[in-house]
Amino acid sequence: MSSVLVTGIGELVSNDPQHGGPLGLVQDAAVVVDGRRVAWTGPASQAPAADTAYDVGGRAVLPGFVDSHSHLLFAGDRAAEFAARMAGQRYDGGGIRTTVAATRAASDEQLTANLVRHLGEMRRQGTTTVEVKSGYGLTVADEARALALAARLTPETTFLGAHVVPPEYADDPAGYVELVTGPMLEACAPHARWVDAFCERGAFDVDQARAVLTAGAEAGLRGRLHANQLGPGPGVQLACELGLAAVDHCTFLEDADVAALASSGTVATLLPGVEFSTRSPYPDARALLDAGVRVALATDCNPGSSYTSSMPFCIAVAVREMGMTPAEAVHAATSGGAAALARDDVGHLRVGARADLVVLDAPSHLHLAYRPGVPLVGQVLGSDWAGPLE
Ligand code: NIG
Ligand code: FE
Repeated sequence: MSSVLVTGIGELVSNDPQHGGPLGLVQDAAVVVDGRRVAWTGPASQAPAADTAYDVGGRAVLPGFVDSHSHLLFAGDRAAEFAARMAGQRYDGGGIRTTVAATRAASDEQLTANLVRHLGEMRRQGTTTVEVKSGYGLTVADEARALALAARLTPETTFLGAHVVPPEYADDPAGYVELVTGPMLEACAPHARWVDAFCERGAFDVDQARAVLTAGAEAGLRGRLHANQLGPGPGVQLACELGLAAVDHCTFLEDADVAALASSGTVATLLPGVEFSTRSPYPDARALLDAGVRVALATDCNPGSSYTSSMPFCIAVAVREMGMTPAEAVHAATSGGAAALARDDVGHLRVGARADLVVLDAPSHLHLAYRPGVPLVGQVLGSDWAGPLE
């Protein structure tokens, strides 16, 4: 494969501290891509020669977004539930069971087509790494099927059998946890990299979440957790105690939770699409960042609590509503997501990174928040993508 000099970059977000600031911004920059990897980044005036050149005409270039939290293995939608919420109804996660019924009834082909459609939406909006969870099957066969289908399209697959207790176990939640930690885990582990649980009133308590995460770890899966979404609770502390890569939502935090996140290094993944779509208070990103917590932004794309596939939308909302600067939000959507997935090959454009480059139809990353709702992602170049670098 030949090397390509991407030049005419008005502003490069490298996330390389060597270039200064958290975003490692370089003006009038160039990137050399060799095969599937970044071989060089820096000022265009110092760029080495390459086999071919591609000029992006003064646009901004940034690493592909890393969406570290989505639930794309589903069928059906819940637009009526959204409308009811906008008319005043509260979100309590109960609608998950509606999607479980639709997902169980769908064929492999339907589920795959839905997944491919949503991944395509994400790519067109600049996302180049996507985590996908199970959690709408909730039988051994349906969870294993979801993960096997997802694993064909992304290496970042998460077993979320502990999403809610399905109707057939309504009278025996302990029996369901035994199923999840036993035969379901055994069937799912070969298709998953991660294990997750929804630790919340009405879903799984802290002891049940601990049992699921511990069993998952014994089966070789790394842990992540849904916690403190609907109210305060012990989930964030559990995630920090277990040293999980990430704990997601973090909407209702006490000071002790923030302190635990800061000292553990567990990434706090904030999901502004959820607060938007459930008309809930936003998490306090400012407090987390000021305390030194590593923050990621992700879509949580799912048909219930957050049916957006757009990282630019999440960036804009995080800036407007959560106290983040545009630079912090872009960093959280790239480098933060990579940290939440324990990946060092994505989320930045340092030498050796996977060559996933997003070209904005804009001169700077600021426009992602400054021009909300505008389709600014002009091109996605790079390793997995059809385009000029292929
Ligand atoms: O991350 N919180 C639990 N799970 C999803 C919601 C799923 C749904 O409502 O279908 C979430 O918000
Ligand atoms: Fe989620």
